[in-house]
Amino acid sequence: MTTPPTTQAHLSRRTFLKTLTAAGAVGIVAAGGYTLYEFAPWLDYDQQATYTRRPLAAEVNRSAPPLYELIRYASLAVNGHNTQPWKFAIKENVIEIHPDYTRRLPVVDPDDRELWISLGCALENLLIAARATGHAAEVIYPDAEDMIRVNLMTDSPQDDALFNAIPLRQNTRSEYDGKPISAAELDLLKALPQEPGVTARFVTSPAEREMVIEYVNQGNLSQYTDTEFVSELLTWLRFTRKEALAALDGLYTRCSGNPEVPRWLGQMFVTGTDSQQQADTDAKKLRSSAGALVITSESEDRTAWVRAGQMYERTALLMTSLNIKSAFVNQPIEVASLRSEFQSAMGLDGNLPQLLLRFGYANGMPKSLRRPVEAILV
Ligand SMILES: Cc1cc2nc3c(=O)[nH]c(=O)nc-3n(C[C@H](O)[C@H](O)[C@H](O)COP(=O)(O)O)c2cc1C
Repeated sequence: MTTPPTTQAHLSRRTFLKTLTAAGAVGIVAAGGYTLYEFAPWLDYDQQATYTRRPLAAEVNRSAPPLYELIRYASLAVNGHNTQPWKFAIKENVIEIHPDYTRRLPVVDPDDRELWISLGCALENLLIAARATGHAAEVIYPDAEDMIRVNLMTDSPQDDALFNAIPLRQNTRSEYDGKPISAAELDLLKALPQEPGVTARFVTSPAEREMVIEYVNQGNLSQYTDTEFVSELLTWLRFTRKEALAALDGLYTRCSGNPEVPRWLGQMFVTGTDSQQQADTDAKKLRSSAGALVITSESEDRTAWVRAGQMYERTALLMTSLNIKSAFVNQPIEVASLRSEFQSAMGLDGNLPQLLLRFGYANGMPKSLRRPVEAILV
């Protein structure tokens, strides 16, 4: 039986309208999904960040984790521009930490001082994770060789608050809430075991903090008028989550409290940064902090840099466990012409400033990413 043309036309129109409505709904959902995807950059980024920082205890038996997991925890350490300038080698019960000179920062760090500090930070995480998971460790510092060697032996696992802080620590670049930290917490920080030759000099008086601000100002004015500094920084900035997720390294804008923008626009902002404005922003952030800390060393060599890094990471982890945030303001040390002036102004005597940071209370920021262990094995 053939359908009368009128009815067919009528049904077709109804079907057509239904199809159109369904297509419209699909279109709206698709457009909504796309908009959400484009303008909700935290969606898959935060998943990746959470995966990067998954607690070691959650996936392996803590008393016998594979050495890969110790390396993953080492790689969660603080490091210059998030270049992750390290390679690891596993040789039976030895883990070697090698510098990855392809990830140097020749402008801001021409002597690889900060690169070796970064390796020291990774070493500290590795040692804390090793002890917590049932290893005693012996460290051979890079005096004779261009690497750090960690010999691991079986031991009983040691409970350590710093271990739990490893995946939570971050360099928090926001403004803080202006509240001081308690004397008891300051005492805990000062009581941390020191590395040989390394000192931690806390700055909590307003007068001394103003002096630190003055040097950070000068450092900012020098760095942000230096086109080479700015172009090196640009190569490590990740302006969108697509860039950040593709590279799994570098400085993603949202981790510094800035919005996502296309690279061309971000480049325009960064190259057009007014150095005085940058200095004023950092001065405000320092004034919102509870204090500052200078980490110094007696000598200037690879081992001293590694030990300074260890001291920083240990301090940052204790701060994290006390819910205290910290962020670097290294400008007066990175700008060579300011470093010795800063050293005498702070009364550091023969101790060389290696790192300068501010600390205090604030909410956390989006967390930075790391490359997987497979990518950082020799
Ligand atoms: C030696 C060294 C120097 C650094 N200098 C700065 C700095 O001047 N300003 C800053 O905001 N972060 C600085 N950082 C922090 C890194 O940018 C940060 O650790 C990295 O982006 C990874 O982020 P996360 O620490 O939050 O995991 C420095 C880190 C190291 C080890």
